Amino acid sequence: MKENKHIPFLAFNRLHDPIREELMSVFEKELVKNWYILGSSLREFEVSFAEYLGTAHSIGVSNGLDALFLSLKVLGIGLGDEVIVPSNTYIASVLAVSHVGATPVFVEPDVRTYNIDPKRIEAVITERTRAIMPVHLYGQPCDMGRIMNIAEKHGLYVVEDNAQAHGSTWKGKRTGTFGHCNGTSFYPGKNLGALGDGGAVTTNSGELAEKIRVLRNYGSQKKYYNEVIGYNMRLDELQAAFLSVKLKYLDQWTETRRKIAAMYHERLQGVGDLILPETHPDAEHVWHLYVVRTRHRDALQQHLKEKGIGSLIHYPVPPHLQKAYAHLGYRRGDFPIAEEIADTCLSLPLWVGMGEGEVDVVSSQVKVFFHGK
Ligand SMILES: Cc1ncc(COP(=O)(O)O)c(C=O)c1O
Repeated sequence: MKENKHIPFLAFNRLHDPIREELMSVFEKELVKNWYILGSSLREFEVSFAEYLGTAHSIGVSNGLDALFLSLKVLGIGLGDEVIVPSNTYIASVLAVSHVGATPVFVEPDVRTYNIDPKRIEAVITERTRAIMPVHLYGQPCDMGRIMNIAEKHGLYVVEDNAQAHGSTWKGKRTGTFGHCNGTSFYPGKNLGALGDGGAVTTNSGELAEKIRVLRNYGSQKKYYNEVIGYNMRLDELQAAFLSVKLKYLDQWTETRRKIAAMYHERLQGVGDLILPETHPDAEHVWHLYVVRTRHRDALQQHLKEKGIGSLIHYPVPPHLQKAYAHLGYRRGDFPIAEEIADTCLSLPLWVGMGEGEVDVVSSQVKVFFHGK
């Protein structure tokens, strides 16, 4: 076995070192440009991101939560409305629903893909349901064919949460292009990450795109004239310029992620009680996270930690059991699949720049934990 060394959960330096010169020259350019908000760099990034996904419009905003919030807001979703969300998502998807004044209605995921189970959606639709928010969790697209059919049949909007799945496809079509208005995040650790906070809304509707542009900028099109009560939710020039540099490498980085996932897959087959991630045959996974499951999750995480290997839990508490949502009155047992995932999941290190030797070290230590060798 190779000599052990510290392997962090994520190492930005390995991602950024090879493009350091480009990032530094962008910084220099932005510094002397004398224009830091709503300028040419944001416009350029918006055009290239929309082109990359294959959608008509992309609107840069402050972060992923705001992107989801603005998406629901422009669709007119608010007080008294219900929005269907997966029971095992990151809290931001649910917060966006709450912030427009609507009520989140949870639907369990398919335990094989960890994505919202389309078979369970229709059972919770009421006369108050206005939208479905599929979350492409861990980088795997949801079954968008079935979700769009259900939405159409019931006259519902679809707002994709594409924060974890930049570049992934369902039957060859990129996520972030199916829904009426979709939100994504460029949080640094995302597959396409800024060097700070960032996000975008993507839509094929010119009308919705225009409304978002106005809402993100104080409800104003013309400086100091305000048409609606808006927000300050803009993506700044510097982050947009960094993102334009990084977008050029996204497909190459996705390939690296796929190779690492394939290595884990090969090395961890049949190890202990480990459940390895499954990819739906119609989905192209972009491996934002490589999530395994085991009944011995906490002990495995501790073992890895002692060996200098970072790992994280995505996520330890499902939204319905968060204190923030106590008022909804849910209890343990209400969403058993989400709870089971929360109790057993562990994300192994997977990042661009991680070498095969490092994947070997992590895999070997997982085997040592289960089999003692
Ligand atoms: C699934 C999901 N939705 C929404 C968000 C929110 O994005 P942000 O952190 O940019 O607000 C994140 C990431 O944090 C996420 O993973």
